[in-house]
Amino acid sequence: MKISVEAIQPEKQTKHCLVIGVYSNQALTGSAKAIDKQCGGYLTKLLKNGAFDAKAGETLPLYHLANGEFEHLLLVGCGEADKITPMVFRKIVTGAIKGLVSSKTAKAICYLSEVTVGKETLAFNVRQITETAFEAIYRFEQFKSKKSDSIALKELIIHLSDESEKAACKKALNEGLAIAAGVAYTKDLGNMPSNICTPTYLAKEAEALAKAYPSIKVNVLEEKDMQKLGMGALLGVSQGSDEPAKLICLEYQGGNKKTAPIALIGKGVTFDTGGNSIKPADSMVGMKYDMCGAASVLGTMKALAELKLAINVVGVIPAVENMPGGKAYKPEDILTSMSGKTIEVISTDAEGRLALCDAMTYAERYKPASVITIATLTGAVVIGLGFHATGLLSNHEPLAKSLLKAGLASNDRAWQLPLWEEYQEQIKSPFADMANTGGRTAGTITAGCFLSRFAENYHWAHLDVAGTAAMMMGTNERKATGRPVPMLVQYLIDHAT
Ligand code: BES
Ligand code: MN
Ligand code: ZN
Repeated sequence: MKISVEAIQPEKQTKHCLVIGVYSNQALTGSAKAIDKQCGGYLTKLLKNGAFDAKAGETLPLYHLANGEFEHLLLVGCGEADKITPMVFRKIVTGAIKGLVSSKTAKAICYLSEVTVGKETLAFNVRQITETAFEAIYRFEQFKSKKSDSIALKELIIHLSDESEKAACKKALNEGLAIAAGVAYTKDLGNMPSNICTPTYLAKEAEALAKAYPSIKVNVLEEKDMQKLGMGALLGVSQGSDEPAKLICLEYQGGNKKTAPIALIGKGVTFDTGGNSIKPADSMVGMKYDMCGAASVLGTMKALAELKLAINVVGVIPAVENMPGGKAYKPEDILTSMSGKTIEVISTDAEGRLALCDAMTYAERYKPASVITIATLTGAVVIGLGFHATGLLSNHEPLAKSLLKAGLASNDRAWQLPLWEEYQEQIKSPFADMANTGGRTAGTITAGCFLSRFAENYHWAHLDVAGTAAMMMGTNERKATGRPVPMLVQYLIDHAT
């Protein structure tokens, strides 16, 4: 699908489908008014008659209006004008795109850019429309023998309702396209089953990414390399699996060579059975998504390279499979991490932090300006924040603030949890420097406490995306969301020179 921004007066465009917004109090958006006038008040009458409620995201297709002057209009409900939050706007746009898909429209001009979304700018609308359009047509049907009908929609023109905003809107469109590409890639990787998406597969994907974009370099460490580095925590997790672990290191150089990079570290557990602390069967479904942190690092890298952002970023992905068995690590085993710190394993199901901690120590060699870990780390974050907010923990307040801000700006929000000293108590071990779990209370925070011990030498923030990276519950509604790629790309846009 091709998307562009262009100023096109609706009354002069009669051949293509025009997507226009109307509010539930029967008010019309600017372009709808112009069309209404040309049609002798037809739209006003239609709404008066109660033919269309105009609830947010509802659509009504109209054909051959005013003696064929308008061949095809898609009325899109916007709900109440003063209640349009960014999320409601996405719902409106999703409805519109689904309407276009079901009417098999090939080319449409979208006037939803005119809808007022709180205090957001026209450029914000353009970016949201772009991202949401790709969201609405995303499918993962690689493994279906019978695919759904191909999508007829090939071109979407977003109306530029204010010429003076042209440059900002073009930039927003570009960002939207890059984020959409990163999100779709992250979803594809997440949705891939773990019999295909192994650590080796993730390493190959990273290599393919580096091949496609000259600005990205990749280096994959094998188990023997990790052994030499003393990555006992990461290797401990991988020990029970027949799939070899990989440490995937990516470097994107878009800025000055001397500028310190931002490091993104993504949990790449390609399947999490829980290991010997095995998960109940029902909780195991969804665990192919336990590499969504890694997938978001790859997706963010892709978006960065598409945007050619002037910034340096490194990606580090500890990729492992967590399996039970005779060779697998066990509760009460003591692992020595690359940092030298020892860890008593209380649960082999708290594997993500073990894989991450060695990657965090490894990242020190890049002398990063800041480090962001991204992981489907705890079930507790799903209980606490549900599916809407990513959990955020940090040892550096300005970093936390910029991520929260980036989340708001990109409609991919996070919520900060405290990382107070008092919680550190919970991960004490009588035999090692720390335990890998902290009991039933504050599970997301104690996981953060664990990671914080490996972040002493840099500014660090952690994103727990267990509730936001994928819908894992409900056997028929599982799907990756591509989060937190929009937030990460926004953060990097904000920090590029
Ligand atoms: N991958 C899970 C976290 C998870 C749970 C993600 C549900 C998505 C949905 C993680 O490895 C895990 O098992 N965490 C344990 C930690 C506990 C043993 C301290 C958990 O949350 O139960
Ligand atoms: Mn686990
Ligand atoms: Zn896990």
